[in-house]
Amino acid sequence: MTADLLELATRVAVEAGELATLRRAEGVEVAATKSSLVDVVTAADREVEALIRRRIQDARPGDGFYGEESDAAVGTSGLTWVVDPIDGTVNYLYGIPRWAVSVAVVEAPTQDPDTWTALAGCVVDPSHGDVYRAAVGAGATLGGRALRASRPASLATSLLGTGFGYDAAIRREQADAVARAIGEVRDIRRAGAAALDLCDVARGRLDAYAERGVQPWDYAAAALIASEAGAVVHSTDLREGRRLVTAAAPAIAHDFAKLVRDAGF
Ligand code: IPD
Ligand code: CA
Repeated sequence: MTADLLELATRVAVEAGELATLRRAEGVEVAATKSSLVDVVTAADREVEALIRRRIQDARPGDGFYGEESDAAVGTSGLTWVVDPIDGTVNYLYGIPRWAVSVAVVEAPTQDPDTWTALAGCVVDPSHGDVYRAAVGAGATLGGRALRASRPASLATSLLGTGFGYDAAIRREQADAVARAIGEVRDIRRAGAAALDLCDVARGRLDAYAERGVQPWDYAAAALIASEAGAVVHSTDLREGRRLVTAAAPAIAHDFAKLVRDAGF
């Protein structure tokens, strides 16, 4: 059952990645702004989400749907598809090859993400041909090869990823947290796609990641991929409605949790 869900997630995410790549090559413009002037959506975001939604609806009409760019639908099966058609939209807009399609399926007894259990997820990075996949209890893979989180010697030699939201005041707070943390780690990356940041933890290209304010569609698939790759992942800490997602290699997870608290992520 979970294997079938993962197959569907992969099929749909790969097709969506092909469509997004085609639209990117044709040229991309801002279609509208959302929570702030810099929180943009392109026609491709909407078209790609519509494609994913149609494919899932055709294959599994009883399932719910929760995506970034369209209204949520409650299903009858107890399963919900959590979808970001393009994570890293600003990179996509500027032609920076770091954006992804994220498709997850979760067991969702209520609409509260804290009650969800991710069953399967696929993140596709079309710019690099990377297909990350995981099913709960079955491990995570990249292009069919098993993923393992890194084994850093210490927090001080760890590479940390993070991200910023779209609200200027919140972003200043996030920059303050980065300023407090940066002297405690090897360095910090802000690469612009939360799903890929978490996949980087899964494959050992980052040792840890922390960001407050990410949405369920940003992390649903990639958090499962990171945790199935052995990273220690948390996503339940809410402050003023903004969710903190963290992932860390096990060797530094304890020290990293303290740093995240002390720095005020
Ligand atoms: C954003 C990206 C970014 C993160 C933001 C997200 P979007 O998602 O993942 O890296 O810092 O918090 O909102 O808007 O590109 O789908
Ligand atoms: Ca998005």
